[in-house]
Amino acid sequence: MVDYDRAKELKAFDDTKAGVKGLVDAGIVHIPEFFITPAAKDEFSAKNLDSCSDINIQIPVIDLTDINEDDFQRRKIVEKIGEACETWGFFQVVNHGVPQHVMDEMIQAVRSFNEQPNEIKMEFYSRDNLKKVKFNSNFDLYQSKAANWRDTLACVMAPNLPSSDELPEACREELLQYSEHIRRLGHTIFELLAEALGLKPNHLLDMECAKGHFILSHYYPPCPEPSKTLGITKHTDPDFFTILLQDQIGGLQIYHQNQWIDIHPVTGALVVNLGDLLQLLSNDKFKSAEHRVLSKHIGPRISVACFFTTQFQPFDNLYAPIKELLSDENPPLYKETTVRDYVSYYNSNGLGARPPLLHLRL
Ligand code: OGA
Ligand code: NI
Repeated sequence: MVDYDRAKELKAFDDTKAGVKGLVDAGIVHIPEFFITPAAKDEFSAKNLDSCSDINIQIPVIDLTDINEDDFQRRKIVEKIGEACETWGFFQVVNHGVPQHVMDEMIQAVRSFNEQPNEIKMEFYSRDNLKKVKFNSNFDLYQSKAANWRDTLACVMAPNLPSSDELPEACREELLQYSEHIRRLGHTIFELLAEALGLKPNHLLDMECAKGHFILSHYYPPCPEPSKTLGITKHTDPDFFTILLQDQIGGLQIYHQNQWIDIHPVTGALVVNLGDLLQLLSNDKFKSAEHRVLSKHIGPRISVACFFTTQFQPFDNLYAPIKELLSDENPPLYKETTVRDYVSYYNSNGLGARPPLLHLRL
């Protein structure tokens, strides 16, 4: 009976096609039951909610200036990236070549998309996996244990761009512009990661890891009861890596050495976090770290996450721990997989389930 009600409520919410923003616009004071995080004890224990006990702990901020001009500088940067990937699985980059105005315009465009009249926005609302461009609230609404306080526009941008009329007018130009800059930066980061693993710069590119990306534009409305729900449940990303642009609101946290640590917005910076597929390729040398986003009284918070993955392509490439990294002392820890098989396993459970990479553990 309880389950039945929950299912009905989820469906009713989904049918509004207005997302979490629709609830806030309607002036709700208490959040619907299905948003309440069941593991509240776990996720919100005093220690966790206060986030980090040591505010000086920060993920590394790495300056990419002169990456292509100065060999010595490049080696130093590669070393820092390697250290960050082994210790954190997260770092921020500055002087990365994406102009500030392109990032500012992208954030502003996500705001425009979400804040335009509902009738226009609703036309994009969908859960159809075959759609290259779609808007919805909680991609895992029907799979996860608790819904998150967030609406998302998802656009597959590479290798093939959606046709111009598929992209919402409110953010079309900005998405095209941002996507092209991020594609180039992503390419550079694949090279730096390969070098940090002690491989040739083009090793990961030759494995076709950079052949696709999609962009999730997230909108986290202000929440009337932020201690009861999350913006995004604790999870790892199921891709090679993600480049994240966040505004100045904050709320993103990484789980590191048994505590939640804030990833403070740094002006002009982009956050890079490794996904499960790079942890698999590196045979656990590099980490795919768990992270989450808190909900807040203030907002909206806007972020734009670009996922490097080929999950939307008909690729049969098999990915397994890279042979050059293995030895008798370092045997493979994972079974091989296609990107699509891994992602469909990941999505079948919704966010917050048991660490999905364990599924492939040998
Ligand atoms: C994600 C994610 C963080 C954020 O999209 O997987 O972790 O700050 N986003 O929106
Ligand atoms: Ni994530």
